[in-house]
Amino acid sequence: MNALHPLLRKAYDPDRFGKLARDIVADLEQHLREVQSRHTQRSMPWTPPDDERGFWEGRLNRPEGLVELMRLVVERSNRLQDPRYMGHQVAVPFPDGALVGMVTDMLNNGGAIYEMGPTNSAMEEVLMSRIGRMMGLPDGCGGVMCHGGTLANLVALLAARGWKAGPDADPWTQGDDGLGAVLVSDQAHYCVDRAVRIMGWGAEGVGLVATDARHKMTGEGLTEALRDMEARGRRVVSVVGSACTTSSGAYDDLNLLADFAEEHGLWFHVDGAHGAPAVFSERYAHLVAGLGRAHSVAMDFHKVMGVPALCTGLWYGRHDHSFLPFTQAAEYLWSDAEEPEWWNFGKRTFECTKRMLSTRVAAVLEEYGAEIWGHLIDRLFDLGRELADQVERRPDFESAMPPEANIVCFRHVPESMNSTSSEELNAFTAALRKKHLEEGPQYVVMTRFGGETWLRCTLMNPLTEAEDLEAMLDRIAFLAQDLTLQ
Ligand SMILES: Cc1ncc(COP(=O)(O)O)c(C=O)c1O
Repeated sequence: MNALHPLLRKAYDPDRFGKLARDIVADLEQHLREVQSRHTQRSMPWTPPDDERGFWEGRLNRPEGLVELMRLVVERSNRLQDPRYMGHQVAVPFPDGALVGMVTDMLNNGGAIYEMGPTNSAMEEVLMSRIGRMMGLPDGCGGVMCHGGTLANLVALLAARGWKAGPDADPWTQGDDGLGAVLVSDQAHYCVDRAVRIMGWGAEGVGLVATDARHKMTGEGLTEALRDMEARGRRVVSVVGSACTTSSGAYDDLNLLADFAEEHGLWFHVDGAHGAPAVFSERYAHLVAGLGRAHSVAMDFHKVMGVPALCTGLWYGRHDHSFLPFTQAAEYLWSDAEEPEWWNFGKRTFECTKRMLSTRVAAVLEEYGAEIWGHLIDRLFDLGRELADQVERRPDFESAMPPEANIVCFRHVPESMNSTSSEELNAFTAALRKKHLEEGPQYVVMTRFGGETWLRCTLMNPLTEAEDLEAMLDRIAFLAQDLTLQ
């Protein structure tokens, strides 16, 4: 047998690990101080994709050591902790989450079966039912943690398919006729459409429900979409509510959807990847009234709950429904045991190996309690309202709609463009966004709906202040001057 290679000895050396950790954590502490105080030039060091690839092609040929590499990654990455970050819906993680990540990455217990990660598995079971009850789900609720809302929504729809098929059919084993369908808002996240296609129901399996001016599904829209799908020979299994929509942050009326699902014998799933945490806020919980009536709910801990990505919960109103997605009749396929074996999570998750997700959530509860989620929602949703008010006060800006969440869509319409066509205004907005992306210092994104292009902010950083929002609007108006002059 070969002797242990010195490189392997180096890789596993505890002294070296301790030294690296101290250096890297010291750098991160410094980084946090700098970006939180807006001392870096901008919240996003934009580089065109080919330039960035060129940079890394060169750099990765000249290794300088881990500490140097980490410094470079920190320097060149987006700075979510910068209060001027107001772009996409990624959590600005509570910094101690990075320490939890360090511990769990070291332990690297897998979660497919209990014995691979006993602590983490048991915590997952406890937390899913405890947090589910905090969310208003019934006693007896439960679920699993998984890697992302996209996956959670797919798994929920697999559960819906199994449930709707009933105990005598087993689509998991036998497949189905490919004619299943789901009703979902025309403003829903694309992953619902993707899930339906993955399930083999094709584009026709997505019954888009028309929304009103506030991007909410209506009763008439639901009835019409159901009738339409049935007329086309489709078997609707589920109605999916958005809490909230991605583009504009609109909350569907979940009680309306629950009533509709009950009336028509449908599985009611809530895609609460972004906005379900409103349930933790006294001020904003009304937005998700009816959440507790859902058969299943997806909620991302890695959006407005301060946990690093990816970390999602998928809850079922009934714990035993969590076995529906991957087995129908043969729930106990993987073992001779006559019991569901909650502890072997791989029976219920798409993933086999998964990260130690529950430890990350437990860490938040341990340090701060669930109330921190309420405070985070209050702060971020209040910032959404503050931005909308500022837009309202400026005659050369307009809002797409009053925000319900921390997502605000707006645009700049300089006086000189008051009577331009919609196409011109869209092109102007896109050009303005591109210029702002390139020049900063804030990070703002863009969206389109109803044929109109909008600038879009998701207020993710609780350290953002009203002055940061004013500065962003000033900057947009300033950059627009160059464009209007051309
Ligand atoms: C409403 C909604 N659902 C699902 C997703 C997808 O979640 P993930 O990025 O965790 O896969 C998003 C992401 O933006 C979302 O906003």
